[in-house]
Amino acid sequence: MVATLYGIGLGPGDPELVTLKAKRLLGSAPVTAFFAKRGRPGQARMIAEGHLNPATRELRFDYPFTADMDVRDPRYHEEMEAFYDRCAMELAACLDQGWDVAVLCEGDPFFYGSFMYVFDRLHGRYASEVVPGVTGMSGCWTRAGAPIAHGDDVLLVLPGTLPQEAMVARLRNADAAVFMKVGRHLGTIRRALAETGLIDRAILVEGGTMAHERVQPLAAVHDESVDYFSIVLVPGRQRVR
Ligand SMILES: C[S@@+](CC[C@H](N)C(=O)[O-])C[C@H]1O[C@@H](n2cnc3c(N)ncnc32)[C@H](O)[C@@H]1O
Repeated sequence: MVATLYGIGLGPGDPELVTLKAKRLLGSAPVTAFFAKRGRPGQARMIAEGHLNPATRELRFDYPFTADMDVRDPRYHEEMEAFYDRCAMELAACLDQGWDVAVLCEGDPFFYGSFMYVFDRLHGRYASEVVPGVTGMSGCWTRAGAPIAHGDDVLLVLPGTLPQEAMVARLRNADAAVFMKVGRHLGTIRRALAETGLIDRAILVEGGTMAHERVQPLAAVHDESVDYFSIVLVPGRQRVR
């Protein structure tokens, strides 16, 4: 029997932003897998609640660590590689039995998603299908009422994990920007935006489209860190057209 590995994008948090295709596939998947921080319910799993096949078997993959280890530490990559190898083996065991597996993904699966690491390991060996989702950043700029890119604006997307100098160098050539993975990097992001004169345009969105959503001008926030599900937006359209 040929089983399929599905990567299901679930959007940024509001369950009404789940696509019809995602809903249909989740409703019939015999196995549902998801990544989560230890001790937490898992963002994708929470969004999917209410859409799952009641008889589905759930596979939970707890990250060995999340924000507590620096991505520049070589142990981070070694341990994450071993972790994704184990996840891929568990998924392969289900696929080998002929069971389709739906991997739940917050936002879009191919945009900074963990799913990509198991997809890379399995998609040559098994049939696979990816269902795109509304990204976290589109949920955030929509809720902030901030059109992000116009005309010939260049939109830059940066992970908050970059060093400040790298952020500054890239921001100098961008008209609009989005910082992902803000969390404990908020202070570095604020300093990079201050150095490039962009701080007054920046908006912090915590939990965009989620129940605890908060939208504020970044200049009004003085914390060095915020919730992991936070994005900083720098809208474009500064030139007269
Ligand atoms: C591992 S990435 C996953 C991105 C996701 N695949 C997407 O399409 O947006 C996690 C980061 O996405 C951002 N993010 C995703 N959804 C968000 C939301 N609803 N509100 C704020 N930030 C969000 C945060 O910066 C978070 O640290």
